[in-house]
Amino acid sequence: MSTAKKNYTRVTTHSLSEMKRNGEKISMLTAYDYTLAKIIDKGGIDVILVGDSASNVMAGHETTLPITLEQMIYHASSVVRAVERALVVVDMPFGSYQGNSKKALSSAIQIMKESGGHSIKLEGGEEIIESIKRILTAGIPVMGHLGLTPQSIYKFGTYTVRAKQEEEAQKLLTDAKLLEEAGCFALVLEKVPAKLAQKVAESINIPVIGIGAGNGVDGQVLVLHDMLGMTHEFNPRFLRRYLNLYDEISGAVRNYVADVKSIDFPNNNEQY
Ligand code: KIV
Repeated sequence: MSTAKKNYTRVTTHSLSEMKRNGEKISMLTAYDYTLAKIIDKGGIDVILVGDSASNVMAGHETTLPITLEQMIYHASSVVRAVERALVVVDMPFGSYQGNSKKALSSAIQIMKESGGHSIKLEGGEEIIESIKRILTAGIPVMGHLGLTPQSIYKFGTYTVRAKQEEEAQKLLTDAKLLEEAGCFALVLEKVPAKLAQKVAESINIPVIGIGAGNGVDGQVLVLHDMLGMTHEFNPRFLRRYLNLYDEISGAVRNYVADVKSIDFPNNNEQY
């Protein structure tokens, strides 16, 4: 397989399909704020997802359900102000698109208008296909999300691997094809067996970006705070930590507290 890497000055939905065609893997991370978005954009990330995982990571909620449209727009607009190269995808929050395609379109338009994001993502297959089609009529690029879909956590009951049984695997394949036919530009596959994920990636022409879905897909996504090791209580098998910022930051804070208490900080060079 070719590993050719083209230098995209600005990543678009078209660049992503070109990457799939060329066999170049797509890199995607979440971001929810200006400062970290700027760092990862400069670091060369292809896609930044303003995920509704902000509900967990930024706000401390147990699930992604409580985050609102306005809160997602606040996070997304902070990210958009930082980004020069990456494609910015904004998650549509729970309750902003399910069961009502007119509401879905108006929520998607509000996200695009008020955040400046480049595309939106929503969770589900056949159940939300009408919403997806309506959003696409407005020229808004849509990314799908199948497998473990955290907005349906109370239906699943657990965060374990999805589609291990034949029936669910078959529905996932059918849903992936439906999303492609409807016009989605890419698809996130979360926590499904690697073999099934590879089969999905091989059976559709749009890029499939995996999280906990093995390396037979077209790209990978992780939650930034997890891969930086800031969230140390979350330990799924698929997570590779590139830093241990939880310990680094704790150590820095302990040193700062000690320096303040001992009047070591500020010293003569650190004052006016
Ligand atoms: O909200 C999010 O962070 C996501 C990723 C896990 C794909 O949807």
